[in-house]
Amino acid sequence: MRTDAATPVRLEDYRPTDYLIDTVSLDVRLHATATVVRAELGIRPNPAGVAGAALRLDGDELELLSITLDGLPLAPTAYEISATGLTVLSPPQRPFRLTMETRINPTANTKLMGLYRSSGVYCTQCEAEGFRRITYFLDRPDVMAVYTTRIEADAAEAPVLLGNGDPVESGTLPNGRHFAVWRDPHPKPCYLFALVGGKLGRIGGEFTTMSGRKVELGIYVEPGKEARAGYALDALIRSMRWDETAFGCEYDLDVFNIVAVSDFNMGAMENKGLNIFNDKYVLASPETATDADYAAIEAIIAHEYFHNWTGNRITCRDWFQLCLKEGLTVFRDQEFSSDERSRPVKRIADVRTLRAQQFAEDSGPLAHPVRPSAYREINNFYTATVYEKGAEVIRMLKALLGATTFKAGMDLYLQRCDGAAATIEDFLACFAQASGRDLSQFSLWYRQAGTPSVAVRTAYDAAARTLRLDFAQSTPPTPGQNDKEPVVIPIRLGVVSPQGEVSPLRTVTGETLDDGLFVLERTADSLTLADIPPHSVPSLLRGFSAPVRLEQELQPEDLLTLFSRDADPFNRWQAAQRYAMRLMVRAVEALRSQSAPVFDVAFAQALGELLLGVDDHAFAAQVMALPSEADVARELGRDIDPDAVLHARKALRAFVGSQIGDTLAATYERLANKGPYSPDAASAGRRALRNATLDLLAAGDPARGIPLAQAQFAAADNMTDQIGALAILAQHPGDAREDALEAFGARFAGDPLVLDKWFGLQAAIPEAATLDRVRRLMSHPAFSLANPNRARALVGAFAMANMSQFHRADGAGYAFLADIVLQLDGANPQLAARLLGAFRTWRSLEHTRRAKAETELRRIAARPDLSPDVSDIVTRSLA
Ligand code: ARG
Ligand code: ZN
Repeated sequence: MRTDAATPVRLEDYRPTDYLIDTVSLDVRLHATATVVRAELGIRPNPAGVAGAALRLDGDELELLSITLDGLPLAPTAYEISATGLTVLSPPQRPFRLTMETRINPTANTKLMGLYRSSGVYCTQCEAEGFRRITYFLDRPDVMAVYTTRIEADAAEAPVLLGNGDPVESGTLPNGRHFAVWRDPHPKPCYLFALVGGKLGRIGGEFTTMSGRKVELGIYVEPGKEARAGYALDALIRSMRWDETAFGCEYDLDVFNIVAVSDFNMGAMENKGLNIFNDKYVLASPETATDADYAAIEAIIAHEYFHNWTGNRITCRDWFQLCLKEGLTVFRDQEFSSDERSRPVKRIADVRTLRAQQFAEDSGPLAHPVRPSAYREINNFYTATVYEKGAEVIRMLKALLGATTFKAGMDLYLQRCDGAAATIEDFLACFAQASGRDLSQFSLWYRQAGTPSVAVRTAYDAAARTLRLDFAQSTPPTPGQNDKEPVVIPIRLGVVSPQGEVSPLRTVTGETLDDGLFVLERTADSLTLADIPPHSVPSLLRGFSAPVRLEQELQPEDLLTLFSRDADPFNRWQAAQRYAMRLMVRAVEALRSQSAPVFDVAFAQALGELLLGVDDHAFAAQVMALPSEADVARELGRDIDPDAVLHARKALRAFVGSQIGDTLAATYERLANKGPYSPDAASAGRRALRNATLDLLAAGDPARGIPLAQAQFAAADNMTDQIGALAILAQHPGDAREDALEAFGARFAGDPLVLDKWFGLQAAIPEAATLDRVRRLMSHPAFSLANPNRARALVGAFAMANMSQFHRADGAGYAFLADIVLQLDGANPQLAARLLGAFRTWRSLEHTRRAKAETELRRIAARPDLSPDVSDIVTRSLA
């Protein structure tokens, strides 16, 4: 445990290290409880550092067995060891070799950082600061070395031995042991180090790069599950091709391996040449994975592969620059999925995630800039803000500069910063140079936290046929940042007239709006458009061109106009969501003053009409999925009563379902499966819409919907249809639900990843009995709090996907989560801190719940010996 947890690390304090490590030669003798690591480091004084300084290496839970300098034992007086590292007091001021042997216990490593075992497989996770749990090192990304790794293990226990880079040698040893040597010629920071040893099955493939390099591809999984890795391999090959075409990025080793493990704190990790994945994002078969799982596998395989350039070839100078690799790589994987699937549908899905995760984070106590300026625990900054908002910033840069200039800037970045540990300034300088523009105001997006609001007022002058748009922006205060400056907001817009799209858009001063782009840079600005027909509706922030909240007064008839006629699919979807939101917010108000909600028939009819003429099924499915309870809560912003939100949403869904029941039923029939399952986007869209229609039908008329859901559940030949039906049944108490849950649990008893869906569904049931159900499921034989996937599926889903029950008025949901966080903190602080994040909206609740949440947060804060991870989150949550 770190003792310096209270002292934050600050960006402004950055300075280079006093020493550099150029070469690392590791010899790792794997043993379940006593692995011995011999590290030989080629070190030299850093010309940019302080001459003669002591050499302070990071270390965590290491046992030092020996230490030599240039082959001679180091006297005990020449170095010091503490709980956080080892200091060589007066190292030579010339290149030297430091050789250390450390002993570590992979089996006892429940933090899943450093070297640990997952179902008997030895594996590593070093980002952000896990390498120091393997050997003493300058554990920071601006220290880059060339690595050679020799791995030795019992041949029966670990027949497969993998490292970074290319394999150079392997062989057998006495006593049933064997070894393999891997060498990675590309200098890298230690967070990209990895090794794997274990009994693993493999599927292989081959890829020839654009310059003709033959690359051997391997995906390693639990033996027997090889067939489930086929889609991941296919996605990898498509990613490699796409990165060459879209960004000119070519792979740079002869081997690329992916290993799937079942205990993993995050989604996956981009270690050089040896990506390690949470098996949830590798394994898929029609019977066990949903369409959403297939899409997530494709996206994450691509994401980690794309890091090879944006992350590995060009890495981060320090952890404040995390968004340099993450925001950019998320942007790249989103572009890849958009090209492989439907661009508008992908955009809608991404914006849904952005609002649900990042907007929620940005409006609460954990808000921070895309590039934070201080942290107490870096693991707590792998956030939606760094990743998703970080990607939005790149997307805005592209919108502002145009595709061609953006490409020129990217090319410059990839060429100029190759091999470097770079900063956001280095990145932006490439785009400033390529465009000849000053990007200093734009760079505020990296420094300023909070979600800007853009308020728009419109005024139509019928005589002059002009439409005036007045924009005003403001960003609310966030922790540590009270005063905000105006940011650069690209607003893509159009005008939908009764005759259709007004094109091109011209201002009264005679300029044409290229691409329909208006850039709001000042606190307030306006735009007056010429030649606008009467009864036109402005369509603003098309494609969600900036991560802002748009406040635009639109009447129901305007929303219906946009919904049916907007040329921008994103804003068609947005119009329906806005309409639904308006109805739900009014329903919440009605319910809280004990009156019955009233809804518009016109809204339900509009949805019905969409279904009658539907061609893009995936798009229609996104429309049918009305705003979530959390969406409504965010819209309300304060004094939230989750029960009222739940019932308002239920009531609207029931209303729509009963109003257009026949259309829903007909659509459901029409979209029936024909032929065997295929995970392609078009088929997935059809299944998504079919499940969405059944869901609304059952909400409006259970007597009609439930039997259909039961039939679908029983007949399903794929997981999407099966879990889709089960999710519908789960919303309706009774035997149908309990029978189906039992059948599903029995059928997939041996398949933990599928049981996770089953845990998650039950944890999300919005009924008072759910907390007891969750408690009961915690003693299910397949459940284990120690496994991050299980913990997130059950406890995480309860806390994050069941608003009314986590925020129970009696506080029992809060107490439950607090107990789990405290119980987990000693074993796996990262996971504990993630789960604790569920409290991030606590201040926006009505006062009774707010008080109950605060009590639990204070109970956690009062516990001595909290991990830095949990301590940091709880402190910030209460600040
Ligand atoms: N770099 C990984 C990715 O986004 C995430 C690793 C985060 N790990 C951690 N322990 N915080 O692809
Ligand atoms: Zn990443």
